[in-house]
Amino acid sequence: MHKTIEPTILYFGTPVALISTLSPDGSPNLAPMSSAWWLGWSCMLGLGQMGQTSDNLIRTRECVINLPSEDLVTHVDRLALTTGKDPVPEKKRQWGYRHEPDKFGIAGFTAMESESVAPPRVRECPVQMEGIVHDYRAFGKNVSANMFEVHIVKLHVDEELLAGEGPRSHIDPVRWRPLIMSFCRFFGLGGEVHPSRLADSDFMKLVAQGAAPHVAGSLPAAQIVQTGAGSMEGKTPFTS
Ligand SMILES: Cc1cc2nc3c(=O)[nH]c(=O)nc-3n(C[C@H](O)[C@H](O)[C@H](O)COP(=O)(O)O)c2cc1C
Repeated sequence: MHKTIEPTILYFGTPVALISTLSPDGSPNLAPMSSAWWLGWSCMLGLGQMGQTSDNLIRTRECVINLPSEDLVTHVDRLALTTGKDPVPEKKRQWGYRHEPDKFGIAGFTAMESESVAPPRVRECPVQMEGIVHDYRAFGKNVSANMFEVHIVKLHVDEELLAGEGPRSHIDPVRWRPLIMSFCRFFGLGGEVHPSRLADSDFMKLVAQGAAPHVAGSLPAAQIVQTGAGSMEGKTPFTS
C-alpha cells in the first residue's frame, strides 16, 4: 500500500561533493553539497542561488569537485551551516548559517594546487575533478537554485582505489567508499546487492578495456546496445 505524501524536499541518497571555487578576494571557498551526478566526462551540480559557490561559478567558471570518502565525515560535517558569503543572506542567517572565511581550516582540510584550474583541490579527498563550467541556468520548482554543467578537464584519483595500470586504469568500486547523504543523514555504501546487466553490455566492455573517452562517447547507439533475450535492446546504457 502506497501513500501520496508531500515532504518539503526530495533528498534521495547521492554522494557528497566538496566544491572548491575562488571568491572575489582570491581566497578559496569550499562548499559541501550532494546534488551532483555524472554522465561521461560531464557533471551536473545543483546549487542554491544564495550560496557563494553559485556566485563564484558564474563569475570564474572554474571549480574542483572533490569527493570525500566515508572516513572524512567528521571533517565534512564541520562545514555544515557555514557560508563563504559575507554578509550572510538574511534567510540563511535565520536558518543558523554563519560566515566562514576559512572553510579549509575549520574542516581540517589541506588546500593543494590544481593543474588546470585556479581553485585548489582538497588533498584528503581521494577523488578530485578539475572542472570548467560549460553552461548554467536556474533550476527547479519551489527552490531558488542553479544547475551547472561542468566539464571535467582533469581527474586525480588516489592510486589505492585504482584497478589496472596506466592512464586508462579505473576506479575499483569495491575499494571506493564514498560518503552518501540521504535525507540529511550520512551513510556509506552497503555491500554489493546484485551484479548489474549493464556491466555486460558491449559499451561497458569497451569501458572496461579502457577505450578513450571520446571513442566510447561517440559510439552510435546501435553499436552499444545488447541484443537478444534479456537485453537492453533499443536503449543506450546511459539514456534508458
Ligand atoms: C552534506 C551536505 C550536503 C549539501 N548539499 C547541498 C546541495 O546539494 N545543494 C546546495 O545548494 N546546498 C547543499 N548544502 C548546503 C550548502 O553547503 C550551503 O548552502 C552552504 O552555505 C554553501 O556554501 P557557500 O555559500 O560558501 O557556497 C549541503 C550541505 C551539506 C553539509
